Amino acid sequence: MMTKRGLFITFEGIDGCGKTTQMNLLAQYLKNQGAEVLITREPGAKGLGEKIREILLHYDGEVSSKAESFLFLADRAQHIDKIVNPAIEQGKFVLCDRHTDSTIAYQGYGRGVDKEQLKFLNNLATGDRKPDLTFVFDIDIETSMSRVGKEKDRMESSGIEFFEKVRQGYLEIAKLEPNRVKVIDASQTIEEISHRVTDLLKKKEI
Ligand code: TYD
Repeated sequence: MMTKRGLFITFEGIDGCGKTTQMNLLAQYLKNQGAEVLITREPGAKGLGEKIREILLHYDGEVSSKAESFLFLADRAQHIDKIVNPAIEQGKFVLCDRHTDSTIAYQGYGRGVDKEQLKFLNNLATGDRKPDLTFVFDIDIETSMSRVGKEKDRMESSGIEFFEKVRQGYLEIAKLEPNRVKVIDASQTIEEISHRVTDLLKKKEI
C-alpha cells in the first residue's frame, strides 16, 4: 500500500456517521508509518472556503437547491486547485472530510438536482483529480440524528426524509463505483471501524 506518490482519500456519509473521527484515526496511523498527511474538509478549507462554509451552514434566508449546489462546487474548485492538488504533488496523503460524493448524495439524491449535470459540474470543479479511495460510513438516520444533537445547522435541519434519501444515495454511489467506494457499517465500535478502514486501505492496489 505504501507508495511514493500522494494519495487522495475521501470520507463520506450522512451527518453524525462518525467519519471525522475515523479520518483523524487514519491520519494518526499513517503518520506513525512515517507518511506526510494533510487533513482537510469540504466545505470550509482555509481561506475562501471558510467564507463559503459560513453561507452554506448559517445563511438564514431561502436558498435554492441549484444555488446551494453551486456554492458547494465553488468551494470544491478552490479547494482542489489551491490545497489538494499541491499537497498530492508534494507526495502527501490527503484525507478529505467530504468531497464530490456529498454533492451527488445531498444535492442530487437528497434535493433532487439532476445527478448527471452534477457529475458534469463536479468534473469541472475537480479537473482530472479523482479520489483514489472513498469510505462511506453507513448508519441509520435515528442514530446519526441523535449524535448531531439539538443544535442543528442549515443542512442538518433538512429532516428525516431528506436524510433517508441521502443515505440511499450513498449506497447507490457505492454500487456504481465499487472499486473506489467502500461502504463500512458505522454502527460498530470505533476500534472495529478503524480496523476495517486500515484493512481496506492495505488491500487497495495503488
Ligand atoms: P459539516 O459541519 O462539515 O458536517 P459534517 O461534519 O457532517 O460533515 O457540514 C457540511 C454539511 O454540508 C453537511 O450537512 C453535508 C453538506 N454538504 C452538501 O450538502 N453537499 C456537499 O457537496 C458537501 C461537501 C457538503
